[in-house]
Amino acid sequence: MKILIIGNGGREHALAWKLNRSRKVKKIFAAPGNPGIADIGTCINILATNIKALVRFAKESGIDLTVVGPEVPLALGIVDEFVKNGLRIFGPNKNASRLEADKAFARDFMYRFGIPAPRFSVYESASEALKYTKTTNKYPVVVKASGLASGKGAFVVATRKEYEKKIDEILVQHRLGEAGKRVVVEEFLTGQEMSVFVLTDGLTIRYLPSSQDHKRLYDRNRGPNTGGMGAFAPYPTNQRVTNMIEQVIIQPTVLSLRDQGIDYKGVLYVGLMLTSLGPKVLEFNCRFGDPEAQVILPLIDSNLAEVLVAVADRQLAETEVKIKNQWAIGVVLVSGGYPYDYRTGEEITIKDRLSARTLLFHAGTKKENSTLVTAGGRVLNVVAVHENLKVAKQHVYTEIKKIQFKNMFYRKDIGNSGMKKMKRKRRR
Ligand code: AMP
Ligand code: GLY
Repeated sequence: MKILIIGNGGREHALAWKLNRSRKVKKIFAAPGNPGIADIGTCINILATNIKALVRFAKESGIDLTVVGPEVPLALGIVDEFVKNGLRIFGPNKNASRLEADKAFARDFMYRFGIPAPRFSVYESASEALKYTKTTNKYPVVVKASGLASGKGAFVVATRKEYEKKIDEILVQHRLGEAGKRVVVEEFLTGQEMSVFVLTDGLTIRYLPSSQDHKRLYDRNRGPNTGGMGAFAPYPTNQRVTNMIEQVIIQPTVLSLRDQGIDYKGVLYVGLMLTSLGPKVLEFNCRFGDPEAQVILPLIDSNLAEVLVAVADRQLAETEVKIKNQWAIGVVLVSGGYPYDYRTGEEITIKDRLSARTLLFHAGTKKENSTLVTAGGRVLNVVAVHENLKVAKQHVYTEIKKIQFKNMFYRKDIGNSGMKKMKRKRRR
């Protein structure tokens, strides 16, 4: 089988690594890929958004399966174009991708089908949005651009003044462009965050390991939001919460999509807040999470290529997805200054060989002549897998010490919330 992976981050490297372990996979291409993927496949110089060129490449190269990493090509309709051209592709079509690309649509969907979510309103004009402050003074609230904003479109505002400023920035100054044409204002939820991943072909649902991302820059969830500083999987929950997530959130979502004639095929990533009133949906995403994919994919025991083909061909009912009884922890090494200004082009050195139990996924790296240098904010993901979460954590942080680049920064507490939860579980 020949596979084409769309994207260039750590998630896409993890997909390439996992797919490459399948005996059926003879060749992997990535567009545009990264130096980590180049070690196991061929990177081609086509942007993830250049759908026409991607279709042409897939046809000319006889690609059997295309796997889409990021959300933007999905929202642009890459799946519709591939299908129109008789090409097999893993991911939801443009209509189904609205679940991520249009937060107002997604919130309305949850409301109509009774899927637990925060209270919300949608505004298209500042004057409408500012009336909100007349009806309630309950802060904080969360203000979100309805469209895709590369993870930079959600703001927690603590006071009425901050609210007015944010509304002005988005709806009057149009600082987020098209993405901010509509704004969703929602109730601020508290609790632990959890990412749930399921594969569906629109009929059958298969659960992948859940995970917890760490979005804030600093330990103990302080500092600014980032694209994600690390993740671990699975996220430990008790049977009652697991049942609630399956019965009150996942099953009704997939069923309601089908009832509405929305053909959802691919991975559905549900961002949840575990509140005192039960799990509530923060967001739907139509793709694997980054950095969650880097810890989820190593825990899948089945042949990923076969599973993704089964989703695309609507044969998931006949395909089992086995999950390893292990833990994975992934830590993201970032350039100092990220998520604001940072330098790139710093040489990356890896002293000693990383142990066989460690996985290294590239995100923002580049080869200059034959030297590996930094090329982005999130540079590398170091992942360790073990039967014991604590050992996995020790392992990942020992291995990180072998890696260096100027102003390298990373969080030291990835996995701690999982260990705390496990301790509480044992005590009960
Ligand atoms: P989103 O862009 O919807 O994924 O939101 C990004 C992040 O903002 C989430 O991962 C949460 O940490 C936070 N967030 C989003 N919505 C809410 C909410 N209603 N209450 C509290 N935190 C939220
Ligand atoms: N882990 C956050 C995201 O992929 O959107």
